[in-house]
Amino acid sequence: MTNVDKPLEAPLMGEPYLLTPGPLTTSAAVKRAMLKDWGSWDEDFRALTREMRASLLALTGDRDDQLDCVPMQGSGSFSVEAMLGSFVPLEGKVLVLSNGAYGQRIAQTLGYLKRKYTVIDKGDYMPPRGGEVTEALLNDPSITHVVVVHCETSSGILNPIKEISDAVYAQGRKLLVDSMSAFGAVPLDVNEVRYEAMVSSANKCIEGVPGFGFIIARKQELEAAKGRSHSLSLDVHAQWSHMNKTGQWRFTPPTHVVVAFVEALRAHQAEGGVAGRGARYTRNRDVVVEGMRDLGFETLLKDRWLSPIIVTFFCPEDPKFSFDTFYNLMKAKGFIIYPGKLTVVASFRIGCIGQMDEPVMLKVVQAAKETLFEMGVKDATPPALALKERAKLAA
Ligand SMILES: Cc1ncc(COP(=O)(O)O)c(C=O)c1O
Repeated sequence: MTNVDKPLEAPLMGEPYLLTPGPLTTSAAVKRAMLKDWGSWDEDFRALTREMRASLLALTGDRDDQLDCVPMQGSGSFSVEAMLGSFVPLEGKVLVLSNGAYGQRIAQTLGYLKRKYTVIDKGDYMPPRGGEVTEALLNDPSITHVVVVHCETSSGILNPIKEISDAVYAQGRKLLVDSMSAFGAVPLDVNEVRYEAMVSSANKCIEGVPGFGFIIARKQELEAAKGRSHSLSLDVHAQWSHMNKTGQWRFTPPTHVVVAFVEALRAHQAEGGVAGRGARYTRNRDVVVEGMRDLGFETLLKDRWLSPIIVTFFCPEDPKFSFDTFYNLMKAKGFIIYPGKLTVVASFRIGCIGQMDEPVMLKVVQAAKETLFEMGVKDATPPALALKERAKLAA
């Protein structure tokens, strides 16, 4: 039996599965890795930091040593803020491609950073397209950078990142990517999709626990960021140069989280890296989507736009359906689902990432079936308005 088809262990001590986009269900080995204390200065811990940075860089496909990896304490948003404050000069201007909560947060962050920005706002889930980016850049030569969210976790849409990158560089501008929920499971090969910097965090597709994020950037951009950051603690250049000089984090690292993450990276590699991880998540998604559709549920997105990360389902129109009851009954069966974030129609989300596989996803569908029965919901069909919304999306 290879690592790839080894069955996953169930969560410890009857914990529920987290069908959420991170924090997510981690392996017993990742949890066990946190049982030891580490000196942050000690060479053993420095060796783990080096291993972590090298393993993350290996996932980018960087053949020419153009990139480097800078871990950053805090949740993912701290790393997004660090990236924006370090790579966008004060005199720069950013085009934000927004189609959900995380695009909106990027714009809000730029406001805090006093950087000029403009937004292409595609609402709750419509994808930003290359043609629109080209048009916006042609119309405004003062735009220096474009920021895009790879998988917009608020709807689960996988944005057309290659098309966007091509449009950005055809106009001689620079791309920054929030690949928080996608990196490690959806390819982001720097030879295919050009970018200057990207961010992700420990508790997403690598399947670690929360506590830090990481920025992967071109060394040239890292050099140019010297003295630019608005913030002492979120200064990517300072963290990078200190780490390269001393092997240490500038300020107290989340030691246990780092050790757990290294364990998670080793498991990621054993599973077949980005391809292997992506294949399991894709299967998780396909099983849950097919099963839920058989029950009458409908996805917000047409198949082409579905990511293998998280799927939004419309709430049924049946008046006996209430999300809170559905949530609590699913939780009682061992599955924590996620509320929706759409502004137009009611929805909920089911995550496909974490230590879950096809047998688990089949149980999720069975639990949803039993829950509908307990609620007396006979038909999971969404309201007509929901289907009208979806019809606006390109197939
Ligand atoms: C695409 C994306 N960007 C940013 C964030 C923010 O990360 P955090 O909640 O860890 O600050 C998330 C969190 O899920 C995300 O999915």
